[in-house]
Amino acid sequence: VVVDVYSQLVAEGWLRGRPGSGTRVAMAAPFEASPPPPAPHPAPCFDFRAGVPDVAGFPRTAWLRSTAAILHDAPASRLLYPADQGLMELREALAVYLGRVRGVLATPETIVVCAGVAQGLHLLAEELTSAGAAPLAIEDPAQRRERDLITATGLELLSVGVGDDGLDTDRLVQTDARAVLVTPAHQFPLGVVMGPDRRADLVVWASRRGGLVIEDDYDAEFRFDRHPVGALQGLAPEHTVYLGSVSKTLAPGLRLGWIVAPRPLAERLARRKQQDDLGSPALDQLTLAHFVESGSYDRHIRRMCQRYRERRNALLSALALHLPGAETSGVSAGIHVLVQLPEGVDEDRVVEAAECRSVRVEGLRQHCVSARRPPALVLGYASLTPSAIDEGVRQLAAAVGDTLVSAH
Ligand SMILES: Cc1ncc(COP(=O)(O)O)c(C=O)c1O
Repeated sequence: VVVDVYSQLVAEGWLRGRPGSGTRVAMAAPFEASPPPPAPHPAPCFDFRAGVPDVAGFPRTAWLRSTAAILHDAPASRLLYPADQGLMELREALAVYLGRVRGVLATPETIVVCAGVAQGLHLLAEELTSAGAAPLAIEDPAQRRERDLITATGLELLSVGVGDDGLDTDRLVQTDARAVLVTPAHQFPLGVVMGPDRRADLVVWASRRGGLVIEDDYDAEFRFDRHPVGALQGLAPEHTVYLGSVSKTLAPGLRLGWIVAPRPLAERLARRKQQDDLGSPALDQLTLAHFVESGSYDRHIRRMCQRYRERRNALLSALALHLPGAETSGVSAGIHVLVQLPEGVDEDRVVEAAECRSVRVEGLRQHCVSARRPPALVLGYASLTPSAIDEGVRQLAAAVGDTLVSAH
């Protein structure tokens, strides 16, 4: 036993034996103390970053009910790898929901379940790259993360400006792009809605050029003054890839989204998704299907819509009170507002000065490529209570004042 123990410890590197001299405890590799990690940035007291929903309002009880129902009823086979396009239960529920709420023309065969809009875009960009596609046109400004994600696949991007009624389709027609990424229901970050003429132009462009419109419908459920415009996909389903997710409606951490695409393309995207990760988590897919079909999703969205309307109003009132020189633009929708800074104010310096006052805000410039736009902030308001919004904007106004004082 002793000999066995010794040889095992030698084999594992704990002991070192040399013939003719005894067995010794192996010297451990000198321990190099790594420098302590930098102290994490203290969380800001007022986080106005765009696109962050109120996850404190996540419908835990209703979600738990759906999870319990699924765990009780779902056959064991549902815990195997999901079908390439996602579980049929969820695709059926989404086809009905998206048709009813967004006017999307979808069947379960044209839907691919994915890990949010980000993965949908990534799969699509890879598909376009491998098909040797011409450059992809993208709005300028556009969500910077999305632009970076697409560029990383090697797909060339071509920026097209955005006006008060959405993408400059006259400019698009002059380019050699064969695909275009748009946010028609609520442009990110400007907050405008694509007008009917622009929508019609896009449909004509797509059918004449055999082009593809990629519609990012990231926050369309939240429109506060009227019904949201229907999805563009409903006008040209054969030329549109529609992307959506629960990131704004429920929680971004769920990483659940969907692609609606013409069937052959949907199948190709599903194969790519399958090669990437063998499918999105089955239990979450089933739970979401149950959550949608039981009406809990509609109820939750109605509740959040009310909450976000109040918060948006609180933001507008606080801006009018504390920063009267700032103007907002965009329609009454979504979970962010574009705030034009008063003349002569430097956007980057305001972002820095606000951080010093524990207010986190994002400038517009990071989302712009070539469009030169006046200084502005993209303010998210969904995760802050009305009183926090008021105090946060008061601090933001003070930060704007700080930059003016230091400039003189
Ligand atoms: C323009 C835009 N599209 C889509 C998304 C959502 O992405 P995902 O569904 O991957 O969470 C966001 C989130 O911030 C966004 O700003």
